[in-house]
Amino acid sequence: MEMPTSSVSSSLQVRVAARTWLADDILGVELTPVAHTALPAFEAGAHIDVQLPGDLVRQYSLYQLPGDTPRYRIAVLRDPRSRGGSFALHEHVQEGDILTISAPRNHFALHSGPEKSILFAGGIGITPILCMAEQLARDKRPYTLHYCGRALSRMALIDRIQGIASPDASHAHVHVDDGPTEQQLDARAAIGAPSAGHHLYVCGPTGFMDHILNTARELGWQETHLHREYFAGAPIETSGDERFDIEIKSTGEVIEVAAGQSAAHALLDAGFDLPLSCEQGVCGTCMTKVHAGVPDHRDLYLTDEERNRNDCFLPCCSRARTSRLVLDL
Ligand code: FES
Repeated sequence: MEMPTSSVSSSLQVRVAARTWLADDILGVELTPVAHTALPAFEAGAHIDVQLPGDLVRQYSLYQLPGDTPRYRIAVLRDPRSRGGSFALHEHVQEGDILTISAPRNHFALHSGPEKSILFAGGIGITPILCMAEQLARDKRPYTLHYCGRALSRMALIDRIQGIASPDASHAHVHVDDGPTEQQLDARAAIGAPSAGHHLYVCGPTGFMDHILNTARELGWQETHLHREYFAGAPIETSGDERFDIEIKSTGEVIEVAAGQSAAHALLDAGFDLPLSCEQGVCGTCMTKVHAGVPDHRDLYLTDEERNRNDCFLPCCSRARTSRLVLDL
C-alpha cells in the first residue's frame, strides 16, 4: 500500500533477519525484535505498518500462523505500478537493517463461530488468507480455500497451501490462469448458496475481489457474511471536488476543507491528532464518527450498510455531500 508522509503509530523496532524469494517478484521478509522482548501477539488476518526509506509507510499482512515463531513474516510483491513502497523494500532494505513497524492490527479477523469459512486469495492476497486457513485447520473448523494466480511461478507459498494439516484434503484448490480449463475458478460453484453459518473472506487485486464479492451478492449472500481486505484504494475522480466545512461537535470550531485537500489533512493542519496509515481508504485507521451531515464515502473499508448509516467516515479519502459535516471529535 502507498502512503507518502505519515509515520507508524505505536512503533516497534525490528531487525530484518532474512530475505527470501517466495515466487517471481515476491520477496519474503522476516522481522525479529531488536530488544530482547517478544513481539506482540496477533490473530489470523492481522497486518503491520512498516516505515520504509523515503518516508513511506506500507501495510503488509502477517502470513505465519499466530504463535508459531518469535518473528513476523511478510511477503512483498514488486509491483511496477507501485508508488515506491514495494520498490523500497525490494531494493533498499537488506538483512540486518533496522525497521520501524507498528504493532499488529486486524481489520480482517475470522468470524468467531461460522459453520464454514470460504476463503479466496488472488496473487499476493494469499498472505492473510493462508494464515486464516492454517488457523482454521489448527482449530479443526471447516473451510475451503481457493488460491488464484496468473502462473505457478508467480504464486507464493504454494507448498504451505498443500501442506496444511486437514482431515479433508479437498479443502484447498489452486487455480492458475495459464493452467488447464478444468482447474479454472468457477466462482459461482465455489461460493455456493448463502447459509446462515457460512462466511466468505477475500483478499487480492481489486478486480478479483469485486468479481468474488459481486458473484456472492448475485447468489444472495448478505454483506454481513462477506469479509474483504483490499491492498490499495480504487482510483478516485477528484476533478469535481468542492470545498466543504467540518464542524467539531464538542467545540463548535469550523474547519474549511479546500477542494484539493483531504478532510484528514485539514484536521491535521488544524491541530487534531488524527491517526493515519494507508491514506487510501482501505485500512480503517482514520475512521471518525459523524454526528450530522452526509459523507461522500470513497473508501473500500466500510460495508454498504455502514456507509448507509452515515454515522462515520474515513477522512483520508472521503468528503461530504452536504456543505457541512459535524464530526464527533
Ligand atoms: Fe487508512 Fe484512512 S488512513 S482508511
